[in-house]
Amino acid sequence: MTEQETAEQELTDKVVASFDSAKDERFREVMRALVRYAHAFVRETRLTHDEWTAAIEFLTAAGHLTTDTRQEFVLLSDVLGISMLTVAVNEPGLHESTESTVLGPFFVRDSPAIELGGNIAGGATGEPAWVEGRVTDTGGDPAPGARVEVWEADDDGMYDVQYDDGQLAGRAHLFTDAEGRYRFWGLTPTPYPIPDDGPVGRLLDHAGRSPMRAPHLHFMVTAPGFRRLVTHIFVADDPWLDADSVFGVKESLVRPFDRHEAGTPTPDGRRPEGPWTSTTFDIVLAKE
Ligand code: BEZ
Ligand code: FE
Repeated sequence: MTEQETAEQELTDKVVASFDSAKDERFREVMRALVRYAHAFVRETRLTHDEWTAAIEFLTAAGHLTTDTRQEFVLLSDVLGISMLTVAVNEPGLHESTESTVLGPFFVRDSPAIELGGNIAGGATGEPAWVEGRVTDTGGDPAPGARVEVWEADDDGMYDVQYDDGQLAGRAHLFTDAEGRYRFWGLTPTPYPIPDDGPVGRLLDHAGRSPMRAPHLHFMVTAPGFRRLVTHIFVADDPWLDADSVFGVKESLVRPFDRHEAGTPTPDGRRPEGPWTSTTFDIVLAKE
């Protein structure tokens, strides 16, 4: 080790050791690792003062933009793949249950309740999509009364919370029946960009990366005794499947949205004036 390397290592060791007496064991472990990796990053890149100042300005801009409905730090975590890596490390060995993906920044706690077969659109525009499936445990037994929360963007690529009118639209929750079945009308998902008018958008632009997400419909499924599932379904054969800006696509979550011409009878016995699509998504929950 050179004298310079020794001095750098001594500083790192000193800062790591400054957490030695923290009472909370997990906090101690996480903070020591954070310091080790952050220092290694500075050493490896030989980070300049100007670059560190630019990084702090970037984080400051992300903080100034963040509100209850615009979360720039979630976006940053998503585009750096940290959200998906956190998903991965938290479900090792859960191969028998439905896979998870990113929560994203547009989940809202108190969505409208709908009946089985109801419509989540609430005024959001887009092509109707019939979505149905069954929620079971890993043995195939039904999960009755499971809460199925769904949300999605309209056909302009906007979530309700991105409009100023305060209306909830394109989101709802419903409960599975005695056989674990659910069904609802949603909208055929279309590709849309993640919010890219802030520092994260500038970062993507600088990297020559697209902000587009593969078209998807979000699910959060909860039932007593089961692990909460946060996932999406993605539209099969879409060109953005291979270029999702937040690395959220998993093969097992890709579903065909079958197309039906105007006037084709729907599963709930209607003949819509326009075309519509339909898909099936069976969900397997892991025990807690
Ligand atoms: C979304 O799917 O809503 C989303 C996920 C990550 C970042 C931005 C948006
Ligand atoms: Fe989304």
